Amino acid sequence: MSQSNSQFDENVRLVDLPVISDPRGDLTFMEGGRHIPFDIQRVYYLYNVPVDAERGGHAHRELEQVVFALSGSFRMKIDDGKTKRDVWLRSPKKGLYIRNLIWREMDKFSQGAVCMVLASQPYDEADYYRDYEEFLAAARK
Ligand code: TYD
Repeated sequence: MSQSNSQFDENVRLVDLPVISDPRGDLTFMEGGRHIPFDIQRVYYLYNVPVDAERGGHAHRELEQVVFALSGSFRMKIDDGKTKRDVWLRSPKKGLYIRNLIWREMDKFSQGAVCMVLASQPYDEADYYRDYEEFLAAARK
């Protein structure tokens, strides 16, 4: 399913950030609990990503995230256990909110793309589902 005809829901949706436009350049900001629907506990980013790389391939038990393409673009393949959809991120002012129990894969990175992720919890490997069947069983409960 493509971005244009997909129904976004309470599990996955686009977050629009403010832009302060100026001849000297655009400025975008975000505040946890206001623009981002959780307290931001962690920020990480992907860069130097080869254009043929595939990342993600997991879901989270509790973690919520908002993902941005700060520069360039990439595709996010989103799967809630029932419906699969593709979302292209290509704007630094538009993030993708992803709730827990959503499988995600990322690919089609443009040259020089930078992916920034805001997370609701510190890193915890125990929070990951890295096995798709295990995720499906949890998501369908
Ligand atoms: P992973 O989440 O699997 O990356 P991606 O989904 O982008 O493919 O993480 C890759 C590795 O980095 C893994 O060994 C865990 C480690 N890592 C941390 O130590 N802290 C973090 O905040 C993140 C996101 C990953």
